[in-house]
Amino acid sequence: MSKRPSFTRYLVEQQRVDGRIPPQLRLLLEVVGRACKRISFAVNKGELGDVMGSAGSENVQGEVQKKLDIIANEVLIEANEWGGHLAAMASEEMEGIYVVPNRYPQGEYLLMFDPLDGSSNIDVNVSIGTIFSVLKKPEGHPGVHDEDFFQRGAEQVAAGYCIYGPQTTLVLTVGDGVAMFTLDREQGSFVLVRENIRIPEDTKEFAINMSNMRHWDAPIKRYVDECLAGEDGPRGKNFNMRWIASMVADVHRILMRGGIFMYPWDQREPNKPGKLRLLYEANPMSWLIEQAGGAATNGKQRILDIKPTQLHERVSVILGSKNEVDRVTSYHSGI
Ligand code: AHG
Ligand code: MN
Ligand code: MN
Repeated sequence: MSKRPSFTRYLVEQQRVDGRIPPQLRLLLEVVGRACKRISFAVNKGELGDVMGSAGSENVQGEVQKKLDIIANEVLIEANEWGGHLAAMASEEMEGIYVVPNRYPQGEYLLMFDPLDGSSNIDVNVSIGTIFSVLKKPEGHPGVHDEDFFQRGAEQVAAGYCIYGPQTTLVLTVGDGVAMFTLDREQGSFVLVRENIRIPEDTKEFAINMSNMRHWDAPIKRYVDECLAGEDGPRGKNFNMRWIASMVADVHRILMRGGIFMYPWDQREPNKPGKLRLLYEANPMSWLIEQAGGAATNGKQRILDIKPTQLHERVSVILGSKNEVDRVTSYHSGI
């Protein structure tokens, strides 16, 4: 029998032994884990299940929805709505918030998710994932409103993602470092494989969609130009580049071996701060990265300090190895 604790046991220990998470939050995280397991099985079926291709609809952000975007969204809602731990949910795939129906008991938490991240990779069998973030519902008023979700990322009480790749792996923080659990398909449960993950402060690997280079702002162009100049340039070392186009997969690589990920503002849509969304992409990933010793900014400000004003608010994202993120951030203030 394996000595590694299951996800369930890890959470129980966090609650019972260390008192780090209240029982309701433990239940919520267990349910999210179960939902991710179901999504993983659906992803794995591929063409053998009715899960591939477009659903023929668009989400509120004008993006074509894939069948798996919708399936994953439904799995997360169905798994979470009846358990009594949640007040409401918000998702990339739903225009408004989803308030837990009053036929079910109401809980005190808010759950935000990107049910399926990296949709463009579904049909080509490349890693995709689910990203989630948990907030406490503010007290003092009945019902749930959009504004209840407009809390700074620093207020998150749990955040994580599940990557569906060669392994299905769930990565979690409740504010005490980052732990990683791999799905043991024979056992049917997530099993702890790493704790206290740390990101090296320096790196020689950057991740950005280079096809947007001509649209970037000067500080990003300067940083990437300097990386590309390699040994002969101002950095004095050669850099490697990776771009998977699934934020979960790029962030996972950075948690495992360091690196910097950038999806900055660019001139294609000058009125939007960036492509990625603050509440259910940038905030949970930024907290994980910070908990592992990395940094995350929008070029000017720590992402976790941004006060949201919209459910689907976008943000410029620069995250990963601390010294590289600090460098890009300093270029934005003209240093
Ligand atoms: P989603 O599939 O949830 O819409 O997110 C896709 C995001 C992110 O995962 C990735 O880093 C980025 O979009 C890739 O964008 P490009 O195709 O513009 O490179
Ligand atoms: Mn996404
Ligand atoms: Mn998505």
